[in-house]
Amino acid sequence: MLSYRELHEAGMKRIREVDAEHLMDLGAETGAQNRMNREYMESIAFEMRFMGSNYADTKTSFFGHEVSHPIQHAAMSAGRLLNKISTYWEEPYIEDMAAGLMEAGSWFWAGALGNQEMQRIINMGVPTVRIVKPMSNPGWDENEDIIRALKDAEQRGCVAVGMDVDVFFGEKTHDEPPFRYSLGPKTMEEMRRFVEATSLPFIVKGVLSKQDAVKSKEIGAQGIVVSHHGGECIDYALPILRVLPHIRRAVPDMTIFAEGGIQRGTDILKALALGADGVCMLTILTIAYAGHGRRGVTDMVRVLADELMRNMSICGCQTIEDIEPSILWMPYPDRNRGE
Ligand SMILES: Cc1cc2nc3c(=O)[nH]c(=O)nc-3n(C[C@H](O)[C@H](O)[C@H](O)COP(=O)(O)O)c2cc1C
Repeated sequence: MLSYRELHEAGMKRIREVDAEHLMDLGAETGAQNRMNREYMESIAFEMRFMGSNYADTKTSFFGHEVSHPIQHAAMSAGRLLNKISTYWEEPYIEDMAAGLMEAGSWFWAGALGNQEMQRIINMGVPTVRIVKPMSNPGWDENEDIIRALKDAEQRGCVAVGMDVDVFFGEKTHDEPPFRYSLGPKTMEEMRRFVEATSLPFIVKGVLSKQDAVKSKEIGAQGIVVSHHGGECIDYALPILRVLPHIRRAVPDMTIFAEGGIQRGTDILKALALGADGVCMLTILTIAYAGHGRRGVTDMVRVLADELMRNMSICGCQTIEDIEPSILWMPYPDRNRGE
């Protein structure tokens, strides 16, 4: 298995070769939200609990499906970054990425991909989550298309579906005009219709407030992703770990994924301690993919799962259920752990 450093260095080398480094950190306007997100994550420290501890078990389950660890892929479409690095590999990169994830025990989260691409992934046996965009075009009943896409995902064999509500008002990359073509806000009633269109678990992606978490539950969603879409929503968005414990308390029985800036096993453990059931990540997997293709993705997930296992053991958490906020400390006096 390649090490984290080997995976990271090879990936960044390749990304620089194809002149794609500027596509790695896509915050809106100043990008403060991604900086604040990492700064907050890095300001949290662990206490150690060795006495009586043993090697941890990272297995858990999502919506009734057992998984060997809580590390998930974040919703992905093609896009500028992947198009730049993909030509390096002979096989279609979406399939390659999905195969690498399956090998390591993670699901594939399909964003704005074509149905045929998604079907090829499902046929490979990769558990797939379909995240549909809030499409909106004047003069066209996009809601019927959304409902068709949700039903289609169910028929094709997806394990869950959802919508990235954090792009209701478009995605914004630095000072580029916001990408809002075909996207638009949906009412609570429309959201409820989407949830009711499928018997699969519905996940609301892009929740960063107690209000949205509670409203997601009200419409019948089973899961949420605490995320700000890699920073492409509002500048100065709250760090995900800052808001996560408040969201967990507001919706104690929902499945919560946390995503955004997660790069190491310690980041994952912090998210789990603050209320997440699982984490999603894309940037770090894209780096691994850029350097070593399918194998890079598999190795990166395995490296992170090993890091999580060891860190859990050191903090006296033998199972995922044992992980709780008191293993964390905020070394700075004006901050506290999730209160
Ligand atoms: C190349 C790329 C494509 C993405 N495509 C989608 C998409 O189709 N749908 C979606 O909801 N999010 C999409 N995202 C956002 C990710 O799901 C995720 O929110 C974001 O990358 C933050 O996680 P990270 O910091 O681990 O990358 C995309 C991100 C990247 C980098």
